[in-house]
Amino acid sequence: MNRSVSIFVCQSCGAETRQFFGRCPNCGEWNSIVEEITEKSRAKSRKKKPRNSDNLSLHRSEPISSDTDQPFERISTLYKEFDRVLGGGIVPGSLVLVGGDPGIGKSTLLLKSANNIAINHRVLYVSAEESSHQVRLRWKRINESSSELHLLAETDLDEIIDELNDFHPEIAVIDSIQSLNNQNLSSAPGSVAQVRECSAALQRIAKEKNIALLIVGHVTKEGILAGPKVLEHLVDAVLTFEGDRYESFRLLRAVKNRYGATNELGVFEMQGEGLREVDNPSALFLSDESASGVATIVAFEGSRPIAVELQALTNPTSYASPRRTATGVESNRLHQILAVIEKHINIGLSRHDCYLAVAGGLAVDEPAADLGIATAIVSSYKNIQLAKGIVLIGEIGLGGQLRPVKQLKQRIEEAIRLGFKYAVIPRGMQLDELKENPEVLLIEVSNIQEALNKVFSV
Ligand code: TYD
Ligand code: MG
Repeated sequence: MNRSVSIFVCQSCGAETRQFFGRCPNCGEWNSIVEEITEKSRAKSRKKKPRNSDNLSLHRSEPISSDTDQPFERISTLYKEFDRVLGGGIVPGSLVLVGGDPGIGKSTLLLKSANNIAINHRVLYVSAEESSHQVRLRWKRINESSSELHLLAETDLDEIIDELNDFHPEIAVIDSIQSLNNQNLSSAPGSVAQVRECSAALQRIAKEKNIALLIVGHVTKEGILAGPKVLEHLVDAVLTFEGDRYESFRLLRAVKNRYGATNELGVFEMQGEGLREVDNPSALFLSDESASGVATIVAFEGSRPIAVELQALTNPTSYASPRRTATGVESNRLHQILAVIEKHINIGLSRHDCYLAVAGGLAVDEPAADLGIATAIVSSYKNIQLAKGIVLIGEIGLGGQLRPVKQLKQRIEEAIRLGFKYAVIPRGMQLDELKENPEVLLIEVSNIQEALNKVFSV
């Protein structure tokens, strides 16, 4: 029998102790001691295989070009948005961590996805947070179609691993990693030691049995996913599910993905009967009303262009130094654009507060948003509304010149699709087809001054 003994290890200096200390007795670091398991079996030294230099077949390494792996087929969640963020579906045997604030809708998303997948695959949903009665109630509410989804309400890690072995699903959902309990550890569920040991054990069985695991992780008060960073290293993909709890839409992003691109965005809307995917997210981030200080840009989220509204507000300041606040845009970018406006447009913003926000809680960190930001600020300052149907795309250099942006064609096409009639863009880009398109007028400009002259006709 493997007898497990736990020891306490300082994560800072590596010192081992038999009991917990708030401060490491060796290096003096606070809160660095974490409980760990030492299994006798793990400590066993590995027997070295006899090595015979004449016999090359003893090598375990292979040429990288020898393709012995079976091609894998991704499993669809039947949510197009979810699949895209995953890189085209769930890879068999992979570990996916889905993180997000409590109450954002992780369980709802995964229960519905698990139910969808269970139409054609063996799927187990492990609920460590809610009783099976609660999960069944939710399942009834959000699923119109019945399926062969299996449910296990359990917090004990060993029981869950036994069930994974016995039932042998293709996909299992673990909701959530913070509620699992490994009885060999004295720490409470959710502690660093528990999360680490439980996820390592789950990873072992997932790789051994080729079970894809979707693991739910809560974001801690500090905003860190599932406590220890170690979890993020362990899994193949980290997705975050975010959104304002008081607004209905939710954004799913990949922040790490070994099997696909990161920065893909999936958009969902929380409704009474579960999560609905939003195929046309641009509509979500645009409003019909126009006001001064509002400009529309087309930003890229992963591989997808999305039209987004930027809102700026400038006011004469009543503080010693003016306030500058940016939400969804890096504040350095705002400062830089304000400096360019001041220098090249000759607008004195140094005695003005300036607030900038991206509508709908999106974050835009692309230089292509520069022209939109500058236009929104000037529109607010002059108190002039932009004419309807204009999008602004372009990076602004420190000299006020407009610089080319990538994927301009797709951005303009998205604007056309949404009914925009004018696109202000950097001069000299190769867009011959679009220049002849009667649905849109491309207004090419060389610098910020020319752009603002065109949009405000001043
Ligand atoms: P939940 O999936 O339990 O969040 P998490 O697992 O991330 O903690 O979602 C909880 C919220 O979602 C809850 O506040 C109610 C809301 N909700 C709906 O609006 N409609 C629904 O159909 C469901 C199931 C939940
Ligand atoms: Mg939940």
